Parts: sequence; C-alpha cells; structure tokens
Amino acid sequence: MRSRPLVSVLFALLCLSACADDRREERLRAAGPDPSLEALLKVADADIGARKFGICAGCHKAGKGAPDFGGPNLYGVFGQRMGQNSSRFGYTAALVQAGGRWDAPTLDAWIANPRQVVPGTNMQFMGLADPLDRADIIAYLRRQSD
Ligand code: HEC
Repeated sequence: MRSRPLVSVLFALLCLSACADDRREERLRAAGPDPSLEALLKVADADIGARKFGICAGCHKAGKGAPDFGGPNLYGVFGQRMGQNSSRFGYTAALVQAGGRWDAPTLDAWIANPRQVVPGTNMQFMGLADPLDRADIIAYLRRQSD
C-alpha cells in the first residue's frame, strides 16, 4: 500500500508526457493564445481526462459508490462543498473548515497546488503544472456525477 501511490503516479507521469494521442496541439490551437480556464474547458475532453486521472488514482477512485482510498472517492465532487464529498472519509479540519465549493476555478487551483488553496490539507500531491491536463481532469470529474 505504501509504495502504490508513488508507482502509479510515476506511471501516470510517463503517460502524460508520452501518450501523444490526446490531440493536444489541435485543442490548444482551438483554445487560442494564452487561453483562460473557460477557453480550455471548451476544448477539454472527459475521456482524455479519465486517462490523466491515473495520476490521482493512487489515492482516489471516482466511480459511483466506489470506496475511499488514500483520499476520498471523488464521484460527484464537482459542485460539492469542500471536505464533504465522502461522509466516511476522515478529512483534515483545514479542508472541512475551508468552506468553499468545488467549482472549476477552485478545482483548477487545487490540482495545480493543493496547499495554496487549503494550507493545512494533507493531500500529498505535487501539483500538475499543465493547464490543459488540469482542464481535462476537471472535465472528467464533472462527468463523474449524477
Ligand atoms: C497521495 C494521495 C493523493 C493524490 C495523488 C491525490 N489526492 Fe486528492 N486528496 C487526497 C487526500 C488525503 C485528500 C483529503 C485532504 C484533506 O482532508 O485535507 C484529498 C482530497 C481531494 C479533493 C477534495 C474532496 C472533497 O470531498 O472535498 C479533491 C477534489 C481531490 N483530492 C482531487 C484530486 C485530484 C484531481 C488528484 C489528481 C490530479 C488528486 N486529488 C491526487 C489524496 C490524494
């Protein structure tokens, strides 16, 4: 269990850089120069995001009724209040008390750098620097809900 998140994160990183079939250049062209999050979400792809979610999957599942893992199940997290998506998960007080909602801009900032959004969180994730990778994952999370 201890080494599993690391192994899958490394694997997902390899895939993020090597899986060339994500129509990246084409989508970035369509989004225009220096695209906003809104523009990126228009070209984001939930199926591609599902693959990129591999970088999160060492700790999170996102299927309906799936169990918590190292992190809470993320099914339905889009639009949900922070620190509330799984009633069984032991969240940090920092996240529960943050009080915000997981809309697209908040998720985007969180995936880029969780500690910058909620300083006391224990989500051990180095952050994803690429805005299109983040938008694809957000599109996937938005789809994984009722
Ligand atoms: C090493 C384990 C780990 C990885 C990798 C990880 N997370 Fe997390 N995640 C957590 C933990 C632990 C929490 C609970 C944090 C807290 O209580 O402060 C969390 C919380 C969250 C939450 C808040 C859920 C809620 O109910 O409020 C979201 C959203 C989230 N993670 C998304 C992601 C995404 C997207 C990725 C991949 C880009 C990712 N996480 C990668 C461990 C991880």
